[in-house]
Amino acid sequence: MASQPQLKILISRDEIARTVDRLAHEINRDYRDREPLLIGVLKGSFVFMADLIRGLDLPLQLDFVGLSSYGAADESSGQVRVVHGARMRIKDRDVLVIEDIVDTGITTSFLLDYLKRGKPASLKLCALTDKPARHRVPVSIDYLGLTLPNKFVVGYGLDFGEDFRNLPDICSLED
Ligand code: IMP
Ligand code: MG
Repeated sequence: MASQPQLKILISRDEIARTVDRLAHEINRDYRDREPLLIGVLKGSFVFMADLIRGLDLPLQLDFVGLSSYGAADESSGQVRVVHGARMRIKDRDVLVIEDIVDTGITTSFLLDYLKRGKPASLKLCALTDKPARHRVPVSIDYLGLTLPNKFVVGYGLDFGEDFRNLPDICSLED
């Protein structure tokens, strides 16, 4: 039988909640008098997006994009494809991309380039977590939640082979 992976809490649900509150506060301040379009990256960012938008005291709309870069493995293939594009028009909108995690940066930088072609009025990035030691392409994160060590993490929307998305804490996967 395959050995069960060990889960170790890296970021507790309380710390996540405090971080989401802080990010919402920064976004409320910067987007005052504007009506942003938030674009979440499926599937991982759906939990973060759900919590974040309830802290936003702004008129806003939201949409999702689906990208594929990983398949079932835990290493980026370096190849990104749009498997589900944004449905809403982004031209002249203040677009804020919502990411669960920036790892190599390949997915995020591909998405930002892709969205830029739709001519938004502004384009910013909010990422709950970042693994700076893993970056292979430069990505500038306008709103960053937490910096992670170079470990594979699951929970709060993040998966390993589609498992563990429902964990309320962010946990590292130790074998
Ligand atoms: P990147 O293109 O390498 O930055 O990878 C981005 C995507 O890989 C994320 O949106 C996640 O879906 C996935 N990913 C990267 N690191 C992790 C991790 O530690 N846990 C779970 N998913 C991850
Ligand atoms: Mg994934």
